[in-house]
Amino acid sequence: MRSLINILDLTTAEIDKMLDTADDIIANPKKYSEVCHGKKLATLFFEPSTRTRLSFEAAMYELGGNVLGFSEAQSSSAAKGESVADTTRTVCCYADIIAMRHPKEGAPLVASMNSTVPIINAGDGGHNHPTQTLTDLLTIRRKKGKLSDFTIGFCGDLKFGRTVHSLIQALSRYENIKIILISPNELKVPSYIKHDVLRKNGIEYKQTTDLESVLPELDVLYMTRVQRERFLSEEEYIRLRDSYILTREKLKIAKESLTILHPLPRVNEISVDVDDDPRACYFEQALCGKFVRMALIMELLGIHLD
Ligand code: NCD
Repeated sequence: MRSLINILDLTTAEIDKMLDTADDIIANPKKYSEVCHGKKLATLFFEPSTRTRLSFEAAMYELGGNVLGFSEAQSSSAAKGESVADTTRTVCCYADIIAMRHPKEGAPLVASMNSTVPIINAGDGGHNHPTQTLTDLLTIRRKKGKLSDFTIGFCGDLKFGRTVHSLIQALSRYENIKIILISPNELKVPSYIKHDVLRKNGIEYKQTTDLESVLPELDVLYMTRVQRERFLSEEEYIRLRDSYILTREKLKIAKESLTILHPLPRVNEISVDVDDDPRACYFEQALCGKFVRMALIMELLGIHLD
């Protein structure tokens, strides 16, 4: 029985295979339409979500399976004081696989230690978001044709942005990736990302507060939202929320071949006038999320077609 708590729980070969499966699902959806017949996915979401929860649910339906769950802590027994461990032990009686999002870092790990079915971390606080990373990798690979030899800029809230932490961890295992970290000084990546991931793996990286000065170098630009819900002070959030706003005008200096990603939801950081630019890939990215989650559910349930 396997869970996905951190993206590094998967080997590079396993990730590459999962992306291959996702590509095959996109090309031959009918082949996969009944493979999870009789299986149930539980989505336990203790925090708001649109894309992650709905793409998990759509993924399970498109595999011929069924879905149960809750979309807010208030409608579950967590509101009565139940622990994550007890909730997990209970849901294992009803479902074959569980996707969990929780505001507390480590909650899905606790769930996996109390589970008889695979647990998928669908985002834990400001820590990790491995299935968004699979989504991002699939999108980059479909756009660039490979997962090596590019320069990627991460821009925005790199401190609390869990999607950034997981994607940097994943990219640290591919060849010739250069990373540019663009954030206000208050929202730099946590030191473990710098020391245990970037430096330890000898990844070429630099830090800056100025997006425009590095924009022409980038092959991929990964924009992020300032994570309001993780701030202790609303005033601090208001001061930092509009640090970066990508506009069509600013993109004039960027490469023609740039791929613009954003895990979404966007607030102000990408102006809507960018949406029609052929370099804007964030809604396509949201679509990739469904296919890669189909591949992940199959893998964790041990369903192999070939
Ligand atoms: C992200 C998240 O939940 O961390 N959203 C998502 O899953 N696509 C990004 C965010 O909320 O800013």
